[in-house]
Amino acid sequence: MKKVKAILIGAGQRGTYAYAPYAQQHPEELEFVGVAEPIKERREYFRKAYDIPEQNCFEGWEEVLEQPPFADAVLICTQDRMHYEPAKKALALGYHVLLEKPMSPEPAECIELGRLSKEHERVFSICHVLRYTPFFRTLKSLLNEGKIGQLISIQHNENVGYWHQAHSFVRGNWRNSKETSPMILAKSCHDMDILLWLVGDDCVRLSSFGDLTHFKKENAPKGAPLRCTDGCPIEKDCPYSALKIYLKEDPGWLGTVISDDPSMESRRKALEEGPYGRCVYYCDNDVVDHQVVNMEFANKVTVAFTMCAFTNEVSRTMKLMGTKGEIRAVMEKNLIEVTDFSTGKIEQIIYDEAVHGHGGGDYGIMKDFVEQVRISGKEESITSASTSVQSHLMAFAAEKSRLEGRVIDIEDF
Ligand SMILES: NC(=O)c1ccc[n+]([C@@H]2O[C@H](COP(=O)([O-])OP(=O)(O)OC[C@H]3O[C@@H](n4cnc5c(N)ncnc54)[C@H](O)[C@@H]3O)[C@@H](O)[C@H]2O)c1
Repeated sequence: MKKVKAILIGAGQRGTYAYAPYAQQHPEELEFVGVAEPIKERREYFRKAYDIPEQNCFEGWEEVLEQPPFADAVLICTQDRMHYEPAKKALALGYHVLLEKPMSPEPAECIELGRLSKEHERVFSICHVLRYTPFFRTLKSLLNEGKIGQLISIQHNENVGYWHQAHSFVRGNWRNSKETSPMILAKSCHDMDILLWLVGDDCVRLSSFGDLTHFKKENAPKGAPLRCTDGCPIEKDCPYSALKIYLKEDPGWLGTVISDDPSMESRRKALEEGPYGRCVYYCDNDVVDHQVVNMEFANKVTVAFTMCAFTNEVSRTMKLMGTKGEIRAVMEKNLIEVTDFSTGKIEQIIYDEAVHGHGGGDYGIMKDFVEQVRISGKEESITSASTSVQSHLMAFAAEKSRLEGRVIDIEDF
């Protein structure tokens, strides 16, 4: 089979660190031949890492998509409000497209992209990476095998993690719904999508409640300055202290988010001057810090979903309840436990543990996308744009319900 040639649009966190490494791990399957990225350091880093010719490096998606096509596929990894236009243009040029979620913060644009995916006979996959994780694949197989009889109800928790909420949804990129998208879309479209997949039928109606309760200026401790670096008197007792989160010896992936140079000196400077050093009570954030969604599906399965910032672990936990048994599952602990009602036995399910990011989902989606492109999309991907529209609409409907305080009928929506 031929090697896939690809262009990366947006050489930020996701593009550079989550997806592109697949080409280094499988050089016989995938090669990057172009990049579009306005930040020079990032563009240069990517150019060197993937040995891309100078003439194929561009400052933005606009320029690269003005060229006659010179690859098989594009990966669009720009921010939420910069997905629709480049995806539309790339499809029109005949590229296969891997598009980051959310497809768009506008429902009409999501529907349009779903329509375009049927019109252009190209692979058009949305990065709902959870569907490719060994954890969720195992849950799906257990349900398909009838291991717990007929599925009746699911409880699903997205435990965001107190520091993760502060990083991404108070100080960081997804703090403000007008700039990017509401929390239920930015973070929980993954959950809407995975629930839709596990239940295996259409969502018919839902209701949602939630608010931004804590990260607001009226909750700022007395004497707290605007930045953690400005000698905050309560810094030592504050769980959200930027010094605690970012200035530890190894802050992991957070280091490259706050500064392209992750040295201690650069990180400190980033906190003194940039958005990540701000006091969590004095940011321009408006997304919720807790939200619940209740859903009813066409096959009468009910789902209760809770997203909450105030958790210690960053984890997804689930209980799937069926007529013959129950599954308890904790993603980050690789735990899946099935209880059989008739025997009372509890079985621990052993499955391949994830070795790559997002529980193995980042690697899994790349593997699938490259395979799909190599066979020119002869089978529909499980995360195709046309299947992804419904879970996006569930997220939009949940936000409408939360804001209007009423049950939303998906068909009418
Ligand atoms: N699938 C997942 O699990 C997952 C997880 C996190 C984020 N995301 C989504 O991935 C997307 C990217 O997130 P990120 O954390 O990588 O953001 P990022 O800001 O690190 O990367 C986006 C990059 O796009 C670049 N860019 C800006 N304008 C551009 C233009 N005109 N042309 C080309 N590039 C341009 C930016 O300079 C930046 O480097 C977001 O939509 C986000 O919601 C998905």
